[in-house]
Amino acid sequence: MDKTTSASSPVVTASHATIAIFGASGDLTARKLVPALYDLWHEGYLSDDAPIVGVARRDKSDEEFRGEMFEAIRGHVRAGNVDEATWAKFARRLYYRQLDIAAIDTYDSLRQAFEEIEGGNQTTRRVVYMATSPDLFLPAVEGLSKGRLIPGRDSDSTLRVVFEKPFGTDLASAQELSSYLRRFLREEQIYRIDHYLGKETVQNILLFRFGNEIFEPLFNRHHVDHVQITVAESQGMERGRGGYYDKSGALRDVLQNHVLQLLCLVGMEPPALFDARDLHDEKLKVLKALSPGAKGPVSEWAVSGQYSAGLVDGKHASSYLEEERIPPDSRTETFVAMKVMIDNWRWAGVPFYLRTGKRLPHRVSEIAIQFKLPPLNLFTTVECDGNMCDLVGARPNRLVFRIQPSESIKLSFSTKRPGMQYQIQPVTMDFNYDNTFQQSLPEAYERLLLDVLRGDSTLFLRTDELEAAWQFVTPLLNEWEQLKIVPEPYRAGSWGPRAADDLLRREGRDWRQPQV
Ligand code: BG6
Repeated sequence: MDKTTSASSPVVTASHATIAIFGASGDLTARKLVPALYDLWHEGYLSDDAPIVGVARRDKSDEEFRGEMFEAIRGHVRAGNVDEATWAKFARRLYYRQLDIAAIDTYDSLRQAFEEIEGGNQTTRRVVYMATSPDLFLPAVEGLSKGRLIPGRDSDSTLRVVFEKPFGTDLASAQELSSYLRRFLREEQIYRIDHYLGKETVQNILLFRFGNEIFEPLFNRHHVDHVQITVAESQGMERGRGGYYDKSGALRDVLQNHVLQLLCLVGMEPPALFDARDLHDEKLKVLKALSPGAKGPVSEWAVSGQYSAGLVDGKHASSYLEEERIPPDSRTETFVAMKVMIDNWRWAGVPFYLRTGKRLPHRVSEIAIQFKLPPLNLFTTVECDGNMCDLVGARPNRLVFRIQPSESIKLSFSTKRPGMQYQIQPVTMDFNYDNTFQQSLPEAYERLLLDVLRGDSTLFLRTDELEAAWQFVTPLLNEWEQLKIVPEPYRAGSWGPRAADDLLRREGRDWRQPQV
C-alpha cells in the first residue's frame, strides 16, 4: 500500500502498481477493465500515479489510446458522467505500448517501456492482465520470462498475472496449461478470474451463511428438499461473440465456472478462517464430492438445448444457427440443465438442479433453496365454518439469493390469513440491496482488480479447484461428443427445452420461473 492519493473518497491508502493490460484493443478492456480502474481511482483505491499500460499488436500513441478509452468507458462507469477535467487527471497515467504478444523474443522492449514509465524504481509491483484469447497465455508468460519481467522468489518486486477464462477446454488442457504456467510462475503469482466471485451478492452468500446463527443449521439434508441454481441470459450472440461461443457452449462457458462456483458457496463447510487457503480447501471438497444426479445414461441427469427463433423482450430473436459466425450445422449447446448431488454428510440425497442458457426470458441469476414441507396434519383437524380449512395454500419455505438484477435475499414462509378461518398464505421477508443501502453496487471487476493489487487471491481459482471442476464436467462433454448429441431446440424467450422441465417433473418438482 502506498501513500494516500484519494481522488474523492475517504479511503486512507491507495494501491499502487503498474497494471499492464494485454489485449488492450478488446471489448473487455473498454467495457470492464478500464471503467473498473477508473471507478477504483475515483473512490480512492488506486493511487494517482499507478501507471496503466495498454498492450496490443496495433500501433497507437498514448494520446490515441486515451481518446479511445474516454469514448469507450462512457456509460460504463459507476461514477456517473465523466467530465473531461476529471478524465484528464485519470488519463495522464494511461499509456499504450505496441507488442506482438506471441513474439516471445521482443519482451525486452516491454520491460524497458515499463522502466521508463515507472521512472527507474528498483522495486516494482506489476500486474499483467491477460485480456487476450487463451492461445496467447503461453507465449505471453514465456515472453515475460524471457524479457526478465518475472521477479524471483527472493526479490522485493512482484509480478502477478491475471488470466481470463476460458482456462482450458477440458481437464487435460487445463492441466497442461497449468503445468506449463508453473514452469514460469508460482501459484501465488497466478490469478484465474471467475468474475462471478467478485459480485457483491455472491460474496454475501458466505457472510449470510456463516455470519448469522439462524440459517446455517438448516443448510443440510435434514431440512433442504432441493436447491436450484439459475444463470439465465436474454442475450444471444451479440458483438460477434459467436466465433468464441460456438467452440465453447453453455457447459464450458458458464456452468463449469460460474454455476459450479455458486454451488460451492452454497454447499461448502465453514472455512476455519476467511482466507484464501481455507476457502479454496473447502470449495475443493465440494467439487470432489460432486456426482451426476442419476446412475443411468447421461440423458437422465443432463440436458442440452439450442435456441430456435422466438421473441425476447418483445423483439424477434433469430435462431442460434442463423447468428453471425455460427456454422449452420452447429451442435453447440446454448442451454444446459442438470441434476447433481453432493455426496457428503451434509448434502447426501439433496438434488442440486443447475441450469444456464442464452436467449432465456430475462437476464437473471439466482440460487433458490427449497426446504422440506413440515407436517401440516395438525391443521387438517381444524374446521372452518363446517368445512375443512384451506391448507392447499401451504408452500415449503424457500430462501432465494437473487444475484442479479434487483439484488436481494428473500425468505418465504406461511402465515395465517387474517379472518375467522384457518387459511394458509405464503408471504415473503425481503432484504433488498437498493432499499437498504441506497448505493450502487461495485462491479465485480473493481473488487477483483483491487484484490490482485492487494495480493489477495481469495476470490480467484486455485489450480486444484479449477481442475476438480473440469474433472466433473469433462466426462459429460466427452459423452455428448461421442454420442454426437444434438441439443434439443427451445424457443428463444422460453425457459429452455422440454427435457429440462421433465428432469424435475419426473421427481415431482418444477423449475422456478424468476421474474425481474
Ligand atoms: C461470461 C460468459 O463469463 O459470463 C458470457 O463468457 C456470459 O457468455 C457472462 O454472458 C455472464 O456474466 P454476467 O455477469 O453478465 O452474468
